[in-house]
Amino acid sequence: MRVRAATRLHGRARGLRDVHCDGKPVFMTLPTSVDDTAALLARGDYVADRSLATAVYLSLKLGRPLFLEGEAGVGKTEIAKVLAQTLGRRLVRLQCYEGLDVASAVYEWNYARQMIEIRLAEATGEANREALGSDIFDERFLIKRPLLQALEPALEGPPVLLIDELDRTDEPFEAYLLEALSDFQVTIPEIGTIKAAQPPIVIITSNRTREIHDALKRRCFYYWVDYPKAERELEILRLKAPEADKRLSRQVVMFVQQVRGMDLFKLPGIAELDPDTINDTLGALLKYQDDIARLQGSEAQRILNTVKAELAVMPAL
Ligand SMILES: Nc1ncnc2c1ncn2[C@@H]1O[C@H](COP(=O)(O)OP(=O)(O)O)[C@@H](O)[C@H]1O
Ligand SMILES: [Mg+2]
Repeated sequence: MRVRAATRLHGRARGLRDVHCDGKPVFMTLPTSVDDTAALLARGDYVADRSLATAVYLSLKLGRPLFLEGEAGVGKTEIAKVLAQTLGRRLVRLQCYEGLDVASAVYEWNYARQMIEIRLAEATGEANREALGSDIFDERFLIKRPLLQALEPALEGPPVLLIDELDRTDEPFEAYLLEALSDFQVTIPEIGTIKAAQPPIVIITSNRTREIHDALKRRCFYYWVDYPKAERELEILRLKAPEADKRLSRQVVMFVQQVRGMDLFKLPGIAELDPDTINDTLGALLKYQDDIARLQGSEAQRILNTVKAELAVMPAL
């Protein structure tokens, strides 16, 4: 009975969201090598180390979730967005927060619509208690949240499920997630078990404000996303701000690299880069007044002088 219910749900979902291009469905194949994966990411303007391209390739190949951990702003969320875009898949995003529960993450019954259905049945005198009891737990009254949406089939291929900032949720939800990710199925008592015909591509990110349980990590392919080295950061900057003067870009990158070497409360990520005057834009780079005060004025000038001196003897970068 459960299996039948599951088939029914999927059967109906199929065909609802066909993505067409010139009247034809779009199919994108997964990358077949590390080089292929690096090229795919590059197509989405993502500058990846070979080690990251390898991790992405293997997780896709093995069909395992990719667990990305690293400081804020190093490009974890962006990977999921770029993969969805370049593979032509739908991006289903589950933003985690404290207190996230099944009703917001998986599904919820639409009580208001169920009530209206009951009232209508009463008003028209068609209220057969038995039938009504099962009717109002029909898929029509189900509000699908990201985890359930990610199990639905799609013509273009399974979606990319981004479970973002998992460290913000609490442990009970993590345990639930572990179960859902182990067999890509969700049980709704009134309907049955819904299983993905093809598992989604799962990307989990964590800013590491707390440790994620080993059990969940074991299910995944793990990768630590580090701050980029100077060359990679320069590449990113050239992609994101091609209009910026070459010399200025190099100075900004070297400056940020130096600042990351300092013992600050929160180091700058990549998102914050802004090739404007340093003192006035430190707020874009640093997020704590103490850090800004430390860097403003003579310290900023000192780092800039160092950067200029280094760049003068290192023209190749
Ligand atoms: N390797 C990279 N290649 C291209 N852009 C990047 C890269 N890393 C970071 N970025 C840029 O930095 C921004 C912040 O990245 P994001 O993925 O939101 O960081 P995180 O999720 O790690 O906090 C992105 O919007 C993207 O433009
Ligand atoms: Mg993020």
